[in-house]
Amino acid sequence: MKKIIITGGAGFIGSHVVRRFVTTYPEYQIINLDKLTYAGNLANLKDIENAPNYKFVKGDIVDLEFINNLFATEQPDAVVHLAAESHVDRSITNPLEFVMTNVVGTVNLLNAAKNLWKGEYDKKRFYHVSTDEVYGTLGETDMFTEQTAYDPHSPYSASKASSDHFVRAYHDTYGMDTVISNCSNNYGSYHFPEKLIPLAIHNITENKPVPVYGKGENVRDWLWVEDHARAIDVIFHNAATGTTYNIGGHNEWKNIDLIQLLCRILDKKLNREEGESAKLITYVTDRAGHDLRYAIDATKLKNELGWTPSITFEEGLEKTVDWYLSNNEWLKNVTSGHYQDYYSEQYNNR
Ligand code: NAD
Ligand code: DAU
Repeated sequence: MKKIIITGGAGFIGSHVVRRFVTTYPEYQIINLDKLTYAGNLANLKDIENAPNYKFVKGDIVDLEFINNLFATEQPDAVVHLAAESHVDRSITNPLEFVMTNVVGTVNLLNAAKNLWKGEYDKKRFYHVSTDEVYGTLGETDMFTEQTAYDPHSPYSASKASSDHFVRAYHDTYGMDTVISNCSNNYGSYHFPEKLIPLAIHNITENKPVPVYGKGENVRDWLWVEDHARAIDVIFHNAATGTTYNIGGHNEWKNIDLIQLLCRILDKKLNREEGESAKLITYVTDRAGHDLRYAIDATKLKNELGWTPSITFEEGLEKTVDWYLSNNEWLKNVTSGHYQDYYSEQYNNR
């Protein structure tokens, strides 16, 4: 019997990880610890909310006393840590919030785990979910490996890089069992529409301008979120202590090509004339410090643990568009209220 705290389980990737662990391992107790910020949404977990091995706890990882009490009460055997401020544009507007949640919050969790697990570190595990953005940006042909030096450029990636360093420090200094994975851009269901793919689907559907930063030439390596959740499962159960794995889709797309593809898919699904949705594409001022290209070399994960992506991008994108079209209520709920203010601040006069 294992008790696992999954942090950030009400967010995009976290909800897929929680669902996977709750349904695949009925013998585990899964505690979803989430503050329910603008990005956290319990509607993402409606289908499993009554599962007997699932519990939701609302709380802030920055609140040390709360975290210490939770660890003392629940006595978890493992932590899978996803809670974070995750959007680069918000980190440019409000970097301190990213330091608090991503750095201080991570150290609070590490410290609570260190104190609770003292003397039995070999039986416990702290899994930290990180990003490829810690490696910085690439030229035209190279790829990020686990040996690539950290070179973050945005406040978001700097805060994630810092948290990765703390996780490694707790392994090297105290002997805690830690594992880190660094993943490329995810897409799929329950993705908050501040990020490129769901924002574009939402805007195209609503016949609103689709903002493309700069010339749209930046490249991202897209992975279906359920493949990321499966990679986390595989790594959590099989990785050696103190190791790092890169996770990626071998699926690089220039932003503008990706948006054009989405426009073509939506023209068909919405019975529009070919080329109609593409008229919504609008070039806007570039993101400050915008990394040009990310690409993950996931050879280590494939060779050592046998993981590869399960579906092609075309399949995944089609599934994703279908999900948004048939979950209009979810999209409506998350784009009302504060989202409107956020959108105006980010995009008006850009
Ligand atoms: P998200 O923004 O959708 O969700 C983050 C979740 O964390 C939300 O449910 C939010 O309520 C919760 N949270 C935020 N601050 C908290 C706090 N102080 N205490 C407790 N909970 C808090 O993020 P996501 O896109 O699902 O990303 C999850 C993790 O994966 C992050 O650590 C991110 O850095 C990493 N990651 C994301 C991607 C991606 O493409 N989205 C890729 C690689 C790695
Ligand atoms: O690489 C992993 C990272 O991917 C994660 O760590 C982050 O949490 C996640 O948000 C994501 O970061 P990006 O900045 O790459 O994702 P985003 O969806 O914000 O942007 C993708 C690309 O699209 C990027 O080059 C910026 C561009 N973009 C984004 C938005 C929101 C636009 O052109 N227009 C937009 O409106």
